[in-house]
Amino acid sequence: MDIHQLASVAQQLVAPAKGILAADESGPTIQKRFDSIGVDSTEDSRRDYREMLFRTDGASDYISGVILYDETLRQKAADGTPLVDVLRDQGIIPGIKVDNSTRPLAGAPGELITEGLDGLRDRLAEYFKLGARFAKWRAVITIGEGIPSDRCISANAHALARYAALCQEAGLVPMVEPEVLIDGDHDIAKCFEVTEATLRETYVQLAAQLVVLEGTLLKPSMVLSGKSAANRADSAEVGERSIECYMATVPAAVPGLVFLSGGQGDEEATENLNAINRQGAKVGAPWELSFSFGRGLQAAPLIAWGGDAANIDSAKDAFAARARASSMARQGKYASGAVVAG
Ligand code: 13P
Repeated sequence: MDIHQLASVAQQLVAPAKGILAADESGPTIQKRFDSIGVDSTEDSRRDYREMLFRTDGASDYISGVILYDETLRQKAADGTPLVDVLRDQGIIPGIKVDNSTRPLAGAPGELITEGLDGLRDRLAEYFKLGARFAKWRAVITIGEGIPSDRCISANAHALARYAALCQEAGLVPMVEPEVLIDGDHDIAKCFEVTEATLRETYVQLAAQLVVLEGTLLKPSMVLSGKSAANRADSAEVGERSIECYMATVPAAVPGLVFLSGGQGDEEATENLNAINRQGAKVGAPWELSFSFGRGLQAAPLIAWGGDAANIDSAKDAFAARARASSMARQGKYASGAVVAG
């Protein structure tokens, strides 16, 4: 492991004004997204859609890295150029989703554990050869009646730490993603409590596996009211509670937090990221506060595209607009659909 190399990649991924596009939807997830616009999910339609995003002019002004799914890392653009090279030629760093998704945790009704550690060392070595320089593993924590349990949090944090150690050994920056789900009618205080417990345990486990934090990124969920809660907290409160939670749990050695959008609307995610940055600046938060949005960046271009090649230009415009808005929010310069000067 070359820790200087890992730290340098991590820093490039959270370079000023830039963030990450999560385009690593698994087969079933991209199928769901395409179903929503009435498009068949085939190898070619997935390639066409993702190639369109990757070839958006000016994307690299706002996007430092793209998380790919296994199929995409091996795929070629319509003109035969590997998609990895389409990204690298613009200075965008390719990343790879390496978990094998979630299954029910044994003896824990309603709770999930992420699988994929078996054989991971070999897969990481191949992904490095194919050009990936960072990786993602998503753990899922569900809020509900009597859950999450301590053992669900600790099993998921342990798996994240084992994954992160293997990534660093293979020369890939691990993006550590413990997602506390937005689903439910819980209030923001409950989300704070669960996120705090999850992050605390995550950093205990990362230390136990000797993961070097300077060569990692955290991909957290924001501290939010549940999606179906009455009187959901506004973005100013999301900013304050989120920063309070990370300040209590995330070591300063971590170069950056790159937020998932996690089922928020794109505008909501952007406004909350903006508020988090403003609050972070106010209290002197030690990390970059950026984005690694999937739906937050793709909802608009997906609809604009609709599977029709005639719509490619307007879909690219929609993607560029969301990428620019996220970049502004990542600098605390975005408010209610308008860019704030300075
Ligand atoms: P969302 O921003 O749509 O939550 O996706 C980000 C991601 O990569 C989740 O693992």
